[in-house]
Amino acid sequence: MVYEHVLNMVGNTPIIKLYLKDAQNVSLYVKLEYFNPTGSVKDRAARYVIDRLLEEKMIDKNTTIIESSSGNFGIALSNYCRSKELKFICVIDPLISYTNETIIRKMSTEVVKVVEPDINGGYLLNRIKKINKLLEEIPNSYWINQYGNKYNAEAYNKTLAFEMCNEVTNIDYVFIGVSSGGTITGVSSKVKKVYPNAKIIAVDIVGSVVFGGKPQKRFIPGIGSSKVPEILEFAQIDDVVFVREYDVILSCNELLKTYNIFAGGSSGAVFTAIKQYFKTQNIDKQVNVVTLFADRGDRYSETVYNEEWCMEHFCAPDQLRRVE
Ligand SMILES: Cc1ncc(COP(=O)(O)O)c(C=O)c1O
Repeated sequence: MVYEHVLNMVGNTPIIKLYLKDAQNVSLYVKLEYFNPTGSVKDRAARYVIDRLLEEKMIDKNTTIIESSSGNFGIALSNYCRSKELKFICVIDPLISYTNETIIRKMSTEVVKVVEPDINGGYLLNRIKKINKLLEEIPNSYWINQYGNKYNAEAYNKTLAFEMCNEVTNIDYVFIGVSSGGTITGVSSKVKKVYPNAKIIAVDIVGSVVFGGKPQKRFIPGIGSSKVPEILEFAQIDDVVFVREYDVILSCNELLKTYNIFAGGSSGAVFTAIKQYFKTQNIDKQVNVVTLFADRGDRYSETVYNEEWCMEHFCAPDQLRRVE
């Protein structure tokens, strides 16, 4: 197929089958979402949300789009807004990686960096305060608000879940990492419709509050959240698996060394969760498990794949070298 524009290549990502050495009854199907044009699963939401808002005339070509994101959604939105000639202001904080900030600064109209920590020691509350100020100051401005925007979930329902159900027959389990909740909310309702007995397992990280966890400083971006997303109310979740950041780093290294998959932190998180979950379940038949690897490891070269960073936050690098 020949495409007219690289951003039209969103979705229809490849799917691969992995074999787990400690869970031989598991056939693990993985959608490689880093094959999307701006590098992550968030292309699906950015494109769908912008298209729908334009169609519904909730925004027009003079609207200034605003969103708070230090990661993949900021990168995706800055690309899709630019392609539609929409102004885009991205609100970020000092925890953003150098790579992500560079891409967002190149592609967005403006970047606003909130540097003052809030009463919780993080930046979330001050980022939201800043957004409200921008909305007041800029006429015809629109806050995407991925945590509360129903189109964020709808994007995955209509694209990713549709592909998963077509590509894997008889889905028994779906594991999805949660941050804004868009992916799991959209995917769960579609998968449950096609395969009512499928179990949807949410993956959260220790320190995130999404599923009632105790707030704690977290270092791996892209998974977990310091607030409970409103759109999660519509998700159909059977179980939640919490993973530790240390195990996520080991899993990322295992994916790289065992399967030649250079994936981001949330991919290591879902892989950890799947291994953890099936260690404790007595599965006496072959089961089809579906998940997605949301982004590539390149965006984590300063963190997850940086030995000094790992040593500072988690463990000695020789522990990582031992992963074969
Ligand atoms: C790398 C990565 N994985 C997983 C997620 C979680 O997806 P969602 O926000 O739809 O819950 C995100 C969201 O930003 C992400 O960037």
